[in-house]
Amino acid sequence: MQHLPIASPDPIPLPGPVWLLRTLLLLTFFLHLVAMDLALGGSLLAVFYRLRRKSEFARQTARDLAAKLPVMMAYTITLGVAALLFVQVLYGNFLYASSILIGIPWASVIVLLILAYYGFYYAAMHDEAGAGVRVVGALAALLLLAIAFIYVNNMTLMLTPGRWIALYRRHVSGWNLNLGERALIPRYLHMLTAAIALCGLFVVLSGIRQRTTQFGQWLIRQGAAWFAGATVVNYGFGLWLLLSLPARIRALVLGANGVATVLFGAALFLSLAAVVHALMLRAGRRPVANASVCVATALAAVALMVVIRDYVRNGYLPPGYQFGQLRVVSQTSIIVLFFVLFAAGLATVYYMLSKVAAARPAGDPASARQQKA
Ligand code: HEM
Repeated sequence: MQHLPIASPDPIPLPGPVWLLRTLLLLTFFLHLVAMDLALGGSLLAVFYRLRRKSEFARQTARDLAAKLPVMMAYTITLGVAALLFVQVLYGNFLYASSILIGIPWASVIVLLILAYYGFYYAAMHDEAGAGVRVVGALAALLLLAIAFIYVNNMTLMLTPGRWIALYRRHVSGWNLNLGERALIPRYLHMLTAAIALCGLFVVLSGIRQRTTQFGQWLIRQGAAWFAGATVVNYGFGLWLLLSLPARIRALVLGANGVATVLFGAALFLSLAAVVHALMLRAGRRPVANASVCVATALAAVALMVVIRDYVRNGYLPPGYQFGQLRVVSQTSIIVLFFVLFAAGLATVYYMLSKVAAARPAGDPASARQQKA
């Protein structure tokens, strides 16, 4: 511990107890993750469906996804800022150091985000999937892939202070990534594949709203296939990720820590249940009931994975680091104000989403209803 270049925690005391800030970090990160999955997964699926130009259903799906991507981006960014607030408060002395070490890619996230945002607006506003929209949509998706990669680099580097000095010496100007990290690629692929899976569920839900039409049924089958296929692939990436963790940390979810192990088992079980229901959906059985169970179990599995990720993160902290004993001077009024504004924010989001859900589905054009996918 004393040989590691970790700065002391911020001398300004925490405004609330560690358990509360940690809970809020997990909550806001879960929300960020769901929005990010829809933005990243949606951008990739839009690219895929734009390439299937012969199918009217595919073109319509690409248009529907494109129309929603700017909104998904807005949620991703806003909820990411909330998570960033808490992660900085709790792990500032780790995150600031790693952010400086990969300073150039890290700062470039802002530029990449702005460009991707423009790209999504362009694709949303140009209805006909001409070559321009296909190229711009694909570039914007690539930018999101790059942003996610930079995040995974920083989130892993902040946990490995033993690597900091060498990286600093290699490129003092911040031209670094954390490419020497064994868990980097499996962690990235795990996040990416989960994004495709969750966006598949989003496609299912769009189909459920118009399930009496051919287009709606096609959407349900497509979305269920994306979800089930991506999740099955993700068992492989998840296993790779687990094997790439240091043995001491891997052991946490494999028996050494009772709670983490139970949560890990429950997450696997829930994800399996979600896959089974997705397969039943794909077979056309009881769409509303199966979609509801599939979405509920999948979201519960993601929520548990967020908690497990937190166990893993804290497992990385150097032995002897006194996390949880940071100085606290509770500022009750500020915490109460935060909760009031947070609840109002969530209510506003719910209101906006319910308006979007109540709007007439853009899909199922008369022509599409007649055509075969
Ligand atoms: C569309 C753009 C974005 C994408 C694709 C994205 C993707 C990701 C991914 C993949 C992770 C997980 C990294 C890991 O665990 O290894 C992550 C975590 C995180 N993101 Fe985002 N992100 C985006 C935008 C943002 C923005 C704009 C912010 C805030 C300003 C943000 C804040 C965070 C924070 C704080 C975490 C870590 C939370 C924690 O460790 O508990 N993200 N993001």
